[in-house]
Amino acid sequence: MSLNENIRWHAGRLSIEERANRLRQKPATLWLTGLSGSGKSTLAFALEYALHEHGYSAVVLDGDNVRHGLCKDLGFSAEDRSENIRRVAEVARLMNDAGLIVITSFISPFRADREQARQIVGEERFREIHLSTDLSVCEQRDPKGLYKKARAGALAEFTGISSPYEAPLQPFDRIDTDRLSLDESVALLMGHLELQPVTR
Ligand code: ADX
Repeated sequence: MSLNENIRWHAGRLSIEERANRLRQKPATLWLTGLSGSGKSTLAFALEYALHEHGYSAVVLDGDNVRHGLCKDLGFSAEDRSENIRRVAEVARLMNDAGLIVITSFISPFRADREQARQIVGEERFREIHLSTDLSVCEQRDPKGLYKKARAGALAEFTGISSPYEAPLQPFDRIDTDRLSLDESVALLMGHLELQPVTR
């Protein structure tokens, strides 16, 4: 259903700035994209934890987790992945509007879908981070055994094997988790956020 005259936007009394100032941070969405096994979830949750430890408010939207609820009706066709990313971008936007820092960890293999996410979240808040870990490394790690299944033909449309991954052309940053430690990666991403010092 599309918008019609019976649906109106109701503005609240709190501005986004008022919310963000209370949290001493500028809302942003760090959009992690990369192959399965590239380290997205590990980095996302480590960063979320580090931000919390420093007194900031961040939340992770993770592919596997979101597919347990919000997106459990979706599969891995191009259309379903596109809808997955659209929904997540809308949620990221709402969470940014609430003042939160959002870290997303989705393969998000298609450039057009990531561009749509950028439009939904807003250019100023959206930072595309490519986890550029090599396919060979991801396949060797194979934490969920999915590459093995895909190679055996038991898992269709698996990204990197039987479904494409379109690498970002001009990402905000690139992280190869085979070369950079988790702590170094977390520190790098912290540097991409505008955080006010916390005085306790
Ligand atoms: S996305 O392509 O729509 O962005 P998403 O990040 O939500 O994917 O989900 C990816 C996760 O789903 C992978 O980490 C993996 O555990 C699981 N998965 C199951 N089937 C596939 C598949 N065919 N391709 C990629 N990932 C899959």
